[in-house]
Amino acid sequence: MGNETLTITDNRTGKTYEVPVQNGTIKALDLRQIKIGPDDFGLMTYDPAFMNTASCKSKITFIDGDKGILRYRGYPIEQLAERSTYLETAFLLINGELPTRAELEDWTYQVNHHTIIHENIKKFMDGFHYDANPMGMLVGTVGALSTFYKEAKNIHDPENRQKQIYRLIGKMITLAGFAYRHSRGLPFAYPDNELSYAGNFLNMLFRMTEPKYKPHPVLEKALDVLFILHADHEQNCSTNAMRSVGSSHVDPFSAVAGAAAALYGPLHGGANAEVLYMLDLIGTMNNIPDFIKSVKEGKGKLMGFGHRVYKNYDPRAKIIKHLADQVFEVTGRNPKLDMALELERIALSDEYFIKRKLYPNVDFYSGLIYQAMGFPIDMFPVLFAIGRTSGWIAQWQEMLMDGEQKIARPRQIYLGYDKRDYQTLDQRSATAA
Ligand code: ACO
Repeated sequence: MGNETLTITDNRTGKTYEVPVQNGTIKALDLRQIKIGPDDFGLMTYDPAFMNTASCKSKITFIDGDKGILRYRGYPIEQLAERSTYLETAFLLINGELPTRAELEDWTYQVNHHTIIHENIKKFMDGFHYDANPMGMLVGTVGALSTFYKEAKNIHDPENRQKQIYRLIGKMITLAGFAYRHSRGLPFAYPDNELSYAGNFLNMLFRMTEPKYKPHPVLEKALDVLFILHADHEQNCSTNAMRSVGSSHVDPFSAVAGAAAALYGPLHGGANAEVLYMLDLIGTMNNIPDFIKSVKEGKGKLMGFGHRVYKNYDPRAKIIKHLADQVFEVTGRNPKLDMALELERIALSDEYFIKRKLYPNVDFYSGLIYQAMGFPIDMFPVLFAIGRTSGWIAQWQEMLMDGEQKIARPRQIYLGYDKRDYQTLDQRSATAA
């Protein structure tokens, strides 16, 4: 073997092994040959939470956390946010290239013409309790779509797969809109396919008695940009769930339900809501220094700061901060913005945060925009899920096409009992006594 190798000496046996290094990685399976005897299973790696394990090769999203870089299929997120649309970006993520004019027209037509849901799905949604959380409703209902489209299980048929992709992207805004209306006790508003994707979603949320809903262009554009910013983020928790559930070759509606369930958690899709709760807790500008002091004493976290991957300003947070100005011009300034700006100013000049490379992440300002646009806090993860659906689909398709992938099935280190014999109830109480 050449220089691109790793030499490992097993001090238990004195044996030396040479394993190839490719793309800065060794294959975990290459360690299996390292044994202390013929009955030994072979060496494994232990990596809870996949802190240092690549689970796939991917060509979709690139992140450089130290430099604050995010690119979809090579295109910088800043350029896509400024010049693309969510539907165009979704096409890019799923197909690998920006669409031609004809491709974009067809894609937009197909997605728009799959926004209507079966009336029985509406009835199904009606069955949720009056105060059901909209994200819980979305998780349940998107999974239920698989019972309406039975052919969706034919995932190896490209034409059939494409149809389910149109359905998923098209219906996600309808399910989200209906979940919102149900939780507010409002009649469902049907899709208007003459509107843009984001405009149609706003229509299904906020249309009242007017015959034709006209979204505010600034808010429509802002929502579209927020969908772009949330569209993909390589192997995050929900995307990993999408790949893992999908690796059993289940239909994509069930896999998206799994991914959305992962996003529902406060450590993933719920952090922007936590920022608002934190700002409420701080209450006034005067309390900020004391709050920062308590964070530095380890009594809590500055929510919306810090990231597992970004050790620099999250590029999405920069875009959102700029977007906030445009939105607040229309909606009026969210009174919490001044507190957020002051928190950021103090944190970015404070040794504690500088040393730990803690910068604002995507969630620091997004909640303020959502709230100003009229979204209740429990809708925030739903908005995230709409944008992320295209990323989930792109990653799921890539996984299906990847000959090296198999059903996801990690190993474990068993630390439980060795073999022991079953005891009757009488024997057990004697032992306990
Ligand atoms: N406020 C104060 N201190 C923090 C913060 C924060 N927001 N985040 C990290 N730190 C400190 C830690 O206490 C630790 O300090 P120490 O070295 O003295 O022990 C140090 O910075 C390193 O932090 P870790 O917890 O090791 O970083 P990790 O990568 O595991 O965590 C995470 C990243 C979970 C995002 C964390 O920064 C955090 O909890 N932030 C607040 C929640 C948040 O905004 N989440 C949204 C993330 S973006 C997204 O998911 C879409």
